[in-house]
Amino acid sequence: MRVPAKITNERYRLNYHVSTPSGWMNDPNGFSYYQGYYHIFYQYYPYSSERGPMHWGHYRSQDLIHWEELPIALTPDSPEDDNGCYSGSAIAKDDRLYLIYTGNHYYDVNDHSHFCQTQNVAYSDDGIHFTKYSGNPVIAVPPTDNSQHFRDPKVWQHGDSYYIIVGSQDKAGLGRAITYKSTDLLHWEYLGPIAVSQERDNEGYTWECPDLFSLNGQGVLLCSPQGIAAKGKKYLNLYQTGYFIGKMDYRQNQFEHGVFQELDHGHDFYAAQTMLTPDNRRIVFGWLDMWHADFPEQADGWCGALTLPRELTLKNNQLYMKPVKELKQLRQEKVIDEKLMTSLKQINVSDPQHLEMLLTAETEDWSGSEINFILKNKQEDLVTLTWNKGNNEVVLTRADKPIDDSRRYGRLRPKSNLKIRVFIDTSSIEFFLNDGELVFSERYYTSEKPQIFVNADQSVKINVTGYTMAK
Ligand code: FRU
Repeated sequence: MRVPAKITNERYRLNYHVSTPSGWMNDPNGFSYYQGYYHIFYQYYPYSSERGPMHWGHYRSQDLIHWEELPIALTPDSPEDDNGCYSGSAIAKDDRLYLIYTGNHYYDVNDHSHFCQTQNVAYSDDGIHFTKYSGNPVIAVPPTDNSQHFRDPKVWQHGDSYYIIVGSQDKAGLGRAITYKSTDLLHWEYLGPIAVSQERDNEGYTWECPDLFSLNGQGVLLCSPQGIAAKGKKYLNLYQTGYFIGKMDYRQNQFEHGVFQELDHGHDFYAAQTMLTPDNRRIVFGWLDMWHADFPEQADGWCGALTLPRELTLKNNQLYMKPVKELKQLRQEKVIDEKLMTSLKQINVSDPQHLEMLLTAETEDWSGSEINFILKNKQEDLVTLTWNKGNNEVVLTRADKPIDDSRRYGRLRPKSNLKIRVFIDTSSIEFFLNDGELVFSERYYTSEKPQIFVNADQSVKINVTGYTMAK
């Protein structure tokens, strides 16, 4: 019997985020609602904190906040998925929960550059135990004009039909999203590409984890393209997660759309997946890491966490992300409640690592130019967020990254006051600026208790409240 990776140290363990119990975690999968529970699955390798043949780990929750660990839902033990049950999604139909996922098979296990990716189904009648469909794979080959990159089906219902959108690459080496249609989730008809990368450097060579939905009457295509080249202060991560706003034409199977926009501006955000809640909110989870990062927690027997669940809204052709309202339940005690008139101030709090903070700086008539939020230990400024009033630029700086990769950037359209909502959870920090207009998701690592400072180049009035967060 193989034994799960052993946890040797909990120093970096997050308290109120979904993370792997032990072993490796990447993408969120199968985000859905079934028989009174939210379900979140994830790319999981239980036997080591390094990536290995992917399983689907599984949690469920009644409130999006308290998650119960469930048995492994998918194990790579079939010929079509023996080298990984890759990312996919879930949908309830006739009181049964269906998972649709990619089976990954290497023709030669020592050569990961050649593989066969197929789409597969598993189902459950209790939301806990899953059976793989005996007719797998349900899509055995990619379309003829596709490369071998053919993965991450996201399923939804439209009218009487089911659709999946699959991440892919065409024969010319351009990323794209293709769709299929079905009446029973088991037999699929190929419809074609709905959107294609215009150029490798601009829009990528493979689109991973596509997701198509409508919000406020507009279409949104979310995806994680590989291969977009950095341009100035944009697209600085190894791979990007972002979206196109547009309109889905089901008759023509085309998604007319605008430009690609990054969804989160931090270092640690990828492979996001959404679901629609019973009360019609579009909620997104991302992987709170990035491929090939340093992953210090790997030394402790685990690796990987998800972001907080966030509600998506659309304003002025831009997606906003706000932590779900259920998170307020985790507020334990108000530990900060200050009105500051300050240029440099330490925010004193006994547990700065399990905290939600809300800062409102009265910047409308302020004549200064820069406000910094700093999380630091004795040696260094671990994470700094700087807002510049003159050009409305926001700069996020991480001390643990090489200097040329330490900064991430964003822009806040002029508003009366600057609002920063921050969630800190042991080794993660997420910034939501001006009600989710600009978001940075980050991991940070410190062996001693950090301190929080707010600093401005000219005295500014800031209201600060803060709560310790329950597990
Ligand atoms: C995205 C991804 C997916 C794939 C999965 C494998 O991070 O590469 O395209 O299905 O991870 O774990």
